[in-house]
Amino acid sequence: MKSYALSAAVAAILAGTFLSCGSSNKEIKIGGVAPLTGEAATFGASSKQGMELAIQEWNDKGGIDSKKIVLAFADDKGDPAEGATVFTKLIQQDKVAAIVGPVMSKVALAGAPICQANQLPMISSTATNPKVTEVGDYVFRACFIDPFQGTVGAKFALETLKAKKAACLFDVGNDYTKGLSEFFRDGFTKGGGEIVAFEGHATGTTDFKAQLTKIIAAKPDVIYVSDYYNDAALIAKQARELGYKGTMGGGDGWDSPKLTEIGGASVEGCWFSNHYAADDTTPVVQDFVKKYKAKYNAEPDALAVLAYDGMNIMLDAVKRAGKTDGPSIQAALKATDFSGVSGHVKFDDHRNPVKSAVIVEVKNGKVVYRATVNP
Ligand code: PHE
Repeated sequence: MKSYALSAAVAAILAGTFLSCGSSNKEIKIGGVAPLTGEAATFGASSKQGMELAIQEWNDKGGIDSKKIVLAFADDKGDPAEGATVFTKLIQQDKVAAIVGPVMSKVALAGAPICQANQLPMISSTATNPKVTEVGDYVFRACFIDPFQGTVGAKFALETLKAKKAACLFDVGNDYTKGLSEFFRDGFTKGGGEIVAFEGHATGTTDFKAQLTKIIAAKPDVIYVSDYYNDAALIAKQARELGYKGTMGGGDGWDSPKLTEIGGASVEGCWFSNHYAADDTTPVVQDFVKKYKAKYNAEPDALAVLAYDGMNIMLDAVKRAGKTDGPSIQAALKATDFSGVSGHVKFDDHRNPVKSAVIVEVKNGKVVYRATVNP
């Protein structure tokens, strides 16, 4: 009897230890993942700042159930293998309760199966490839998905730019850029346009002239470049060097202060779809821009906004769950009904929110709002 009582007590203590993963009496630890180095380093810097601002606001209001929120942040270097390593570390060593991030679809696709296997909820702030949340029911995102984003770009090209012929250029080794070009292609042809060239380039290359020569020879009215900002800016430069005078556009991956820094005059007049525009005059956006600028002395990009929204969505779920075990947070996340800076979020059956997109364009070296497109 005695030994039974003792082992029951030990079991209770062990269960207590297990259940307190990701939290203690004093704090709740949330993992944050984004690239601080590598090909998309500006994505990580903005995302980390967005997450930190959200956490600071929760802590200023007393945290959750008097527990302080703590961020365990990890640099995924924009690399899927590194992404898998840091996901495992955050879960096993840091014992986070949930993860916000990562921001790139290819890294999210590496991290998601690890969260799913551990029943640990994650919300990617900005990974737009549809396959990400298909990994399993512990995987959520705070942004729209690329079948929508590709259609938005195609519609803009067809209806606003009156383009009849389009060409696509993308990174063959990147799920996001390849997928987005495919969705643009489908939307453009469905809308009555013609795709005159569909060219892939190798990951990591800096010379796009072979593909661009082919593309320009096919005489497109618009070139859709679904790459991240570094490649996009180089592609724009090389297209101009080869004599292309038409317009170029892309998706959210263009969103970086580096786009105009590297691209200069070559990206003037170019456009891309995004999740938000800093010059959107709605009060919720302007309030956010103001407080972000006050803290970081920089204008927030979409990465910052979605990381802020993503963290808030996660913490709102943790609060409603009232517990920090994975299944409780996941159940609360599913029931999300949250008004963020980038729009209102309720999840569909695939844990994707349905949100509008904006089209922004480069004018006099600045990225400015052009239009809003609803789903
Ligand atoms: N949507 C991109 C991806 O899935 C990431 C991204 C989002 C980049 C928003 C810039 C802005 O990989």
